[in-house]
Amino acid sequence: MSSILTRARRRAVAALAVALTAAALVPAPAGAQFIDVPNPLVQQRADTAIYKHTDGYYYMTASVPDYKRVEVRRSQTLAGLGAATPVTAFTAPSSGDLSGWIWAPDIQYVDGAWYLYFSASPSSARFAQRLYWMRNTSANPTTGTWSAPQRMTTGWESFQLDPASFTVNGTRYFSWAQDSPSTNYNSHMYLARMTSPTTIDTASAIEIARPTHSWEMEGVAGVVEGPSPLVKNGKVFIAYSASATDSRYKMGLLSASASANLLDPASWTKKSTPVFQSANGVYGPGHGSFTVAEDGVTDMLIFHARDYENPEPDALTDPNRHTRAQQLYWSDTGDPFFGQPIAPGTGQPGIRGQYSDKCVDDYDWNTANGALVRLYTCNDYAVQKWEFSYVGGYYRIKNLHAAKCLDNLNGSTALNADVGLWTCNGGVNQDWSILDRGNGWFSLRNRASGLCLDNYEWNTADGARLSMYTCNGVGAQLWRRG
Ligand code: AHR
Repeated sequence: MSSILTRARRRAVAALAVALTAAALVPAPAGAQFIDVPNPLVQQRADTAIYKHTDGYYYMTASVPDYKRVEVRRSQTLAGLGAATPVTAFTAPSSGDLSGWIWAPDIQYVDGAWYLYFSASPSSARFAQRLYWMRNTSANPTTGTWSAPQRMTTGWESFQLDPASFTVNGTRYFSWAQDSPSTNYNSHMYLARMTSPTTIDTASAIEIARPTHSWEMEGVAGVVEGPSPLVKNGKVFIAYSASATDSRYKMGLLSASASANLLDPASWTKKSTPVFQSANGVYGPGHGSFTVAEDGVTDMLIFHARDYENPEPDALTDPNRHTRAQQLYWSDTGDPFFGQPIAPGTGQPGIRGQYSDKCVDDYDWNTANGALVRLYTCNDYAVQKWEFSYVGGYYRIKNLHAAKCLDNLNGSTALNADVGLWTCNGGVNQDWSILDRGNGWFSLRNRASGLCLDNYEWNTADGARLSMYTCNGVGAQLWRRG
């Protein structure tokens, strides 16, 4: 019997060796970085649009507290945006169609010129929002001259806001929110082709979303707004925001195949549950944009939120929707995984267990190959900081202190097998996929074992063992960044 087992084991080890060798040929991620963004990133800036340009700068615009101007700022780093000097591109006049509130500008670079798209209203009717554009032909949009605002016509006149322009396969699209005459909802969401950077092909406009879930109707008749486009993995995603702009504000997600006819409503699917919502002392997260970190590859979620639950005197007048940034992940299904908002002041988040509320820790600061990782009270030390590098379907998770990767030691497939640190080598035993377990919790499934990172025996003591076990979605296998 033992000889048969030996032969079988030899075959298994040989097969695994082949797999490990093959996987080791997988190129290391094309750049990656420890994400360290001081949140809140920019005080009192909501509906934030960040555009990373080919000149290496991040260009940012957003709603300002009094809604009386459109400003642009730039920085070579995300972290630098908070201190960057904003430059005013437009100031609301004392009278006329744009003398009321200016909301949610988007910034784009199209065919050699910069464009700002935003909504504005007259002071006599501040909710009579209409869409406008401005152009600046300077290489740096914090310099030069912006053209006077011109109307963007959508095809019908009603409350319209939150413009977002993006391209897919060479076609430029425009998405926005607008009041539909067909319902009593505050807004539906629309998409149309653009025939120029300043013109919507109104005949192509379609409705891609309307409020249909209770979480899109909290505190309002029904709101879907703040379209935030993201094109990746052969799909087009449009994150949006729903409900009142207080702590009930949540993000939802629309998706379509990038090869589909995006102007066919049937191409779009709406996720039935929110993808991002209040948690961890962060309230009303939403209406942002997507960019990449300085490495050019790590996807980043930009959003606004408050640090308290009840805005005063109301959700629009309260100025403290601050801009925030955190890593956006990709689940094993190829969909974006938003996770949970990371608590203010947490620059480099850990991996925190739902059941234990403790963090994955390079125990005893051990940097040797084979060092075991354990649970420990969450702290701000390097032993609990992890870089998630996406390699297409999987993440390689590197510890900041040890500079070694989370590793299924020996590539074991045994239940309760050890998890530790090993020199990053691209092996399948260092590949972990993110399973979306709902409400921003995730599990980490190891590629070599198919098993999930597990708080062994639900032990919550400092130094508790971490292992792998059959993926079951229970609290011992639920994690969040933070
Ligand atoms: O911040 C002003 C408006 O409030 C934005 O345009 C909209 O997305 C939000 O509800």
